[in-house]
Amino acid sequence: MKKALKIGSFILAGIAVLCLILVAILYCISGGFMKQTYMEPWSKNYAEKYSDPRIRLAASGLLAASNHNMQPWKISLDESDPMVFYLYADSSRTTKEVDPYARQMMISQGTFLEYVAVTGEEEGYHANIALFPDGTYDESHLTESMDSKPVAKITLTKTQPESSTLYDTLFLPDTNREAYQPEKLADSQVSALKSLSSRSNVSIKLYQDQENLSDIGNFALQSATIEAGVTRVMDESNAIFRANEYQKNEYRYGYSVEGQGTSGFMKNILQGLVTIFPSMNTGKSASQNFINSTKTSVEHTPAYAMIITTGNSRLEQVETGMIYSKLVLTGHTLGLAIQPLSQVLEEYPEMESPYTEFKESYAPDGGTVQMLFRVGVATKSVPLSMRRDVQSLIKSD
Ligand SMILES: Cc1cc2nc3c(=O)[nH]c(=O)nc-3n(C[C@H](O)[C@H](O)[C@H](O)COP(=O)(O)O)c2cc1C
Repeated sequence: MKKALKIGSFILAGIAVLCLILVAILYCISGGFMKQTYMEPWSKNYAEKYSDPRIRLAASGLLAASNHNMQPWKISLDESDPMVFYLYADSSRTTKEVDPYARQMMISQGTFLEYVAVTGEEEGYHANIALFPDGTYDESHLTESMDSKPVAKITLTKTQPESSTLYDTLFLPDTNREAYQPEKLADSQVSALKSLSSRSNVSIKLYQDQENLSDIGNFALQSATIEAGVTRVMDESNAIFRANEYQKNEYRYGYSVEGQGTSGFMKNILQGLVTIFPSMNTGKSASQNFINSTKTSVEHTPAYAMIITTGNSRLEQVETGMIYSKLVLTGHTLGLAIQPLSQVLEEYPEMESPYTEFKESYAPDGGTVQMLFRVGVATKSVPLSMRRDVQSLIKSD
């Protein structure tokens, strides 16, 4: 009897040691011991080393939300005026399968600009933002236009620094894909969010009645299911998935397991597994994960919001991004989380039918729904995502 017990505890100890070795191996494969340089831009001291305010402001611009976390920004510093810089859309960072007309990419220019403006106020610089100062793009030569025509000319004027609650929220994750609590938004929250657009051509709509929740939720799920079945679109997303710390430090843009809400020690275990078995996050598994996570999102959403423009010009797309950043930051101050659900707004052929139906329902006067997102109180906070080094944004020419 005693002997059997001894053998049993030997086996148990052996299994425990094996598990520990396995965990240690996964941790090493994940790069768990590495310095996370891709997180440095999130530090409030990150930009202090730059004496040039334009670089300091750009360092905060790059914390903004962007489609597929592509961070598609370039800046050019005016050599003759130290208070002027230009923002360009980085034509090498398009996601042409999912965003064939670069509409989401232009929205992402606006998200950056609003972050620059908010940081400017905090640091004592008013940022005057002139959109498309050299005229808008030639759509038949879009890449060349992006390379040669700035999205914005930003002119700084020295002012009194004004500390703002919005500034502190720049350092929080903009996108929360977790379940939200069922409680509806208070009237004060609704009016605070709706009042954020002062432009007559850009409106903010909020829906929290059962009929619209269910209708919009169905659109979101239907469009996610369509997207999950379009291999070239899924492949485009999967190609920018960074499986481990090595890849995250190397690329510093795109997706990672943090975006699925995983952090801490478990992040390294998951990253180790995904590195060894890439199929966990590609092909059929990726499609199924995407459908499941959309289903969870839709089932735990107390409100949807939209940004709708009267036309669909490049200018309106950029303005949408500016308002979206304002919404995200104001949302943080109100304790509200946000997640865009862009699939039904996407313009590739397979999405045409729900796209048209959605547009007819929610922008019947011929307007364009630029952003659709869920809003609510999150049940869980989420980790920050990768960011590039601000120096890599500086345009070389
Ligand atoms: C135009 C635009 C479209 C987006 N669409 C989606 C989307 O469909 N689903 C989603 O989960 N996140 C979406 N996002 C959020 C980005 O994926 C997110 O901003 C990026 O991964 C960086 O993460 P962060 O916002 O938490 O910093 C979108 C962001 C922008 C600016």
